[in-house]
Amino acid sequence: MIKIAPSILSANFANLVSDVRIIEEAGADMIHIDVMDGHFVPNITIGAPVVKSLRKVTDLTFDVHLMIENSEQYVKDFVKAGANIITVHAEASKHIHRLLQMIRNEGVKAGLALNPATPINVIEHVLDDLDMILIMSVNPGFGGQKFIPSIYNKISSLKEYLQSMDITIPIQVDGGIGLDNIKQVCECGAEIIVSGSAIFNSDNVKDTIRLMKKADED
Ligand code: DX5
Ligand code: ZN
Repeated sequence: MIKIAPSILSANFANLVSDVRIIEEAGADMIHIDVMDGHFVPNITIGAPVVKSLRKVTDLTFDVHLMIENSEQYVKDFVKAGANIITVHAEASKHIHRLLQMIRNEGVKAGLALNPATPINVIEHVLDDLDMILIMSVNPGFGGQKFIPSIYNKISSLKEYLQSMDITIPIQVDGGIGLDNIKQVCECGAEIIVSGSAIFNSDNVKDTIRLMKKADED
């Protein structure tokens, strides 16, 4: 069954606890937390203090997506704050191998994110150091953007590549996913779906998550 990771970027920041309760009750598998620094991406969101506060109110897995420069400098802070998975961008560090090892050495799972224009072969030499691969289906920085259609093929190619190597690292896809396209994204090989605006802007957040979770059933 696919996993749903609601992105709190589109939640109500003035009432995060209530939104967290709603996604918990709907059966969300993790919370996707988008961290942006205004340098790597043209937007600023939240940092470790907010993650730390949220950690006190929920046991859900914290899937922290770092869209920041100098991730090396902040990994420890996010681990201390309660992150369970830390995903860094292939484009944001000169030393990806070292960075992924640093994340694992802190005792959490390590994910690697690829921007839409980044080829999948960048993962080739770090496959042993990865717990998740995040394929961006929008250019990172904002919620509510449109899914880039060429990413369907990118997901399928990655899935085929991993299968050919007998590797079972889960593929997460992030950006522009809603009830209208989630099935297609899953058919390409995605196992963890990030969704922000399609969940939090829907009339019934719980129903939307429940329907999304069934997207890979027939
Ligand atoms: C984009 C973020 C996404 C975003 C997804 O930079 O990484 O997680 O919040 O939001 P939607 O689902 O609205 O595209
Ligand atoms: Zn994200």
